Amino acid sequence: MSVSYTTDDAGHPAPSDAHSQSVGPNGPLLLQDHYLIQKMAHFNRERVPERVVHAKGGGAYGELEVTEDVSKYTKADLFQKGKKTPLLIRFSTVAGELGSADTARDPRGFAIKFYTDHGNYDMVGNNTPVFFIRDPSKFSDFIHSQKRRADNQLRDHNMQWDFWTQSPESAHQVSWLMTDRGTPKTWRHMNGYSSHTFMWYNADGQKFWVKYHFKTDQGIENFTGPEAAQLESDADLHRRDLWQSIEGGDYPSWTLKVQIMPFEDAENYRFNPFDLTKVWPHEDYPLITVGRMTLNRNPQNYFAEIEQSAFEPSNLVPGIAGSPDKMLQGRLFSYPDTHRYRIGPNYLQLPVNQPKSPVRSYNYDGPMTYSNNADPVYAPNTAGGAAAEPSFYTGEDYHIEGTSCRRAYELHKEDDDFGQPRKLWEKVLDDSQRTNMVNNIVDHASAPSVTDEMKKRVVQYWTNVHPDLGSRVADGLGVSS
Ligand code: NDP
Ligand code: HEM
Repeated sequence: MSVSYTTDDAGHPAPSDAHSQSVGPNGPLLLQDHYLIQKMAHFNRERVPERVVHAKGGGAYGELEVTEDVSKYTKADLFQKGKKTPLLIRFSTVAGELGSADTARDPRGFAIKFYTDHGNYDMVGNNTPVFFIRDPSKFSDFIHSQKRRADNQLRDHNMQWDFWTQSPESAHQVSWLMTDRGTPKTWRHMNGYSSHTFMWYNADGQKFWVKYHFKTDQGIENFTGPEAAQLESDADLHRRDLWQSIEGGDYPSWTLKVQIMPFEDAENYRFNPFDLTKVWPHEDYPLITVGRMTLNRNPQNYFAEIEQSAFEPSNLVPGIAGSPDKMLQGRLFSYPDTHRYRIGPNYLQLPVNQPKSPVRSYNYDGPMTYSNNADPVYAPNTAGGAAAEPSFYTGEDYHIEGTSCRRAYELHKEDDDFGQPRKLWEKVLDDSQRTNMVNNIVDHASAPSVTDEMKKRVVQYWTNVHPDLGSRVADGLGVSS
């Protein structure tokens, strides 16, 4: 039921939209003016903390339609042919705060929440297929180096290169970042990747390793470095673009493809298939089409539906499981933990995060509870309450053994930090893309804070990727190589 008159939050008709209660028109205000106090007090509580990373973003609703039969790889309900699953997507930059420019050079978040019949499935990826590091213990250090200094709260390119040049595993992702894919034209004109390897298992319990690729149907379009820099004053460019295209009925879409690796291939594959700094070359594992994702509805209330949306890689459904990727393992912990802090322990009861399938857990109470879980409140019980059905997960178990240790991944035969970025430079980029990459690196490492010593390390880093790239960066930075 809607009403034509203003109310307070408890539904009482509001006494006035404009005037506080006072002692005479010119006198002091009265403490009994509950309506005024509710307005002011609520305003003071309008914000939750912004996300510690990926704070600036935007999102929309849509649907995944599965057009191909991939049931031999997974029994996941949402990936069965003909199935249509509603979803929420949120795009973001990584390092900037709320209000920062959409066009900054940065990876873009590509987070999808599928509301499946077996609970929420979240694919919390980026617009790049790789990442800067391969062990979660380095994540907070990496992010600190990209954010602001402790003393003057300024971003500092010297700090960024300091981290990267001492973390050679970053070379693949930094190469990407320094191409024009580091400055996409809109969110609609970029791909999304799971980056991580996940496990799929089918109804017979056969297991596969999988990587997801969401290929934009709008085509890839990027800004050059100078174009993106010029547009920084238009901070909400990408947010506006997505909103307007959906409002105008121009619904963006992506074709979902996967790479599938038979479970047994992993051990002796030429690259460690769980190393997040590596792709699986398409020649080894070609892309297989699954379906199409289309975005067709804007949120009504940005704060309720996008700011308070809570994506978590730990939201997996029967037919899909994690993998031994150490970064993924770290993320399985990190996201639910940050949501409990940022939004509150009952964040899963908010409409945007709530599964569309029934929930019957034995968790209850806590701040802002409004689920009406009834007795019994424990398991096991003899009161007819729900009981776990482990057969949903038949197929996901696999054998692992080893000695506890703190060590890097064992190398597979072609594992190194520079081979794949070298291939990107040599085989994938054309001449003009290579020139733009060099210019973007030189521009970034020419910031006033970058020391001469650091510039030498920057040149060495890129020489390791390719000698031509190193010497062109050296020329641009005026460093003798
Ligand atoms: P392929 O030639 O089979 O694949 C190269 C892929 O690179 C293309 O399919 C395209 O995928 C992507 N690409 C095209 N232009 C650019 C660009 N300007 N910047 C970044 N990526 C681009 O070779 P490989 O599979 O052996 O991969 C070679 C290199 O390509 C990798 O080392 C990696 O850097 C990059 N790459 C590989 C991907 C993979 O999953 N194998 C995915 C993306 C990039 P798309 O348009 O889907 O991004
Ligand atoms: C957001 C942690 C790696 C993609 C976040 C957030 C945290 C976090 C704490 C904020 C979440 C929130 O407040 O809602 C980590 C850790 C990582 C890691 C600890 C590594 C160990 C990655 C990787 C990817 C990624 C590898 C992509 C492949 C995202 C995205 C978001 C995000 C897309 C924004 C989600 C949204 O739109 O709400 N991450 N992250 N992160 N992360 Fe990560």
